[in-house]
Amino acid sequence: MKLEGKNTNNKRKESRMKTFINIFLGFFIFEAVGAVPITDTVIYDSEFYDVSLGELPHPFVYVENEQSDQSEAEIGTALPSINQESYSSAPLTEEPEEEASMPKLIDVSSAQGSGVLGPQIQDGLPTCLLCTCLGTTVYCDDHELDAVPPLPKKTMYFYSRYNRIKKINKNDFANLNNLKRIDLTANFISEIHEDAFRRLPQLEELVLRDNRIRQLPELPATLTFIDISNNRLGRNGIRNEAFKDLHELQHLYITDNSLDHIPLPLPESLQALHLQNNNIQEMHEDTFCKMKDFTYVRRALEDIRLDGNPINLSKTPYAYMCLPRLPVGNLI
Ligand SMILES: *[C@@H]1O[C@H](CO)[C@@H](O)[C@H](O)[C@H]1NC(C)=O
Repeated sequence: MKLEGKNTNNKRKESRMKTFINIFLGFFIFEAVGAVPITDTVIYDSEFYDVSLGELPHPFVYVENEQSDQSEAEIGTALPSINQESYSSAPLTEEPEEEASMPKLIDVSSAQGSGVLGPQIQDGLPTCLLCTCLGTTVYCDDHELDAVPPLPKKTMYFYSRYNRIKKINKNDFANLNNLKRIDLTANFISEIHEDAFRRLPQLEELVLRDNRIRQLPELPATLTFIDISNNRLGRNGIRNEAFKDLHELQHLYITDNSLDHIPLPLPESLQALHLQNNNIQEMHEDTFCKMKDFTYVRRALEDIRLDGNPINLSKTPYAYMCLPRLPVGNLI
């Protein structure tokens, strides 16, 4: 008798829990349906972004969207530095030839073995004559470079997109203690030395998309933005707990690789996780949430993309309880 009573009690509890969960999930799906048009207009959408990168004449495409709805505004505030940087630097990159001939240069007095035009690259040309140095920004886009040029010591922002760099060496960025952003989009990078970025004390943004990278190196804990989309990261491409100590990380984009799992654990600071077009087949109830703590809420993580993976999100209905929004992906 006693046992039966306990059982029905448990059953009642269970059914109450189920009702609660159903309401909860119902709310989510409602939210998700409402959110669909928003995710469609998100600027940092890989499809849209890929098209933009290839077709737009100037390279600052993170904010190339004219629409001004609410989601836009959110993105804008989420990536303030990118916005500012993009707009202020856009006109300057369009005339690199002209800029190069005018010595409007970084104070390179402290740069290693350098003259007024910055340190010299191998064939004797100073970096700031070959590339364009403006303030603390060095633009080397589309210069057929096959290695990272030596950079002035005060460099904060380094752009070297659309080149032919194959390898990042241990000392390519050595002693660049002010470096905040590295953008090596669209090179032929297949190899990065494990320590190439590790000792950069200020590095916030690392953009390595559209390369051939198989292995992610050690990352500094100051990073807020990582984009390593469209590379060749597979099962062992990201070492265990690679992002665990990145307590400032807000945006992690690893679309179009061959990952077969979601890299864990994810830092609490994370706002956007894009993993579309990988080979992720399963996840666990506590990939994002904590199964032992139903009161836990992962408030920051609003934007998870898992579409284009062979995963059935319906199989783990409890895995999204703590999230502000349902991930985008197959709910079949
Ligand atoms: C996805 O998972 C749900 C829940 O387990 C199941 O009912 C459904 O048949 C699955 N769909 C596919 C295509 O496997």
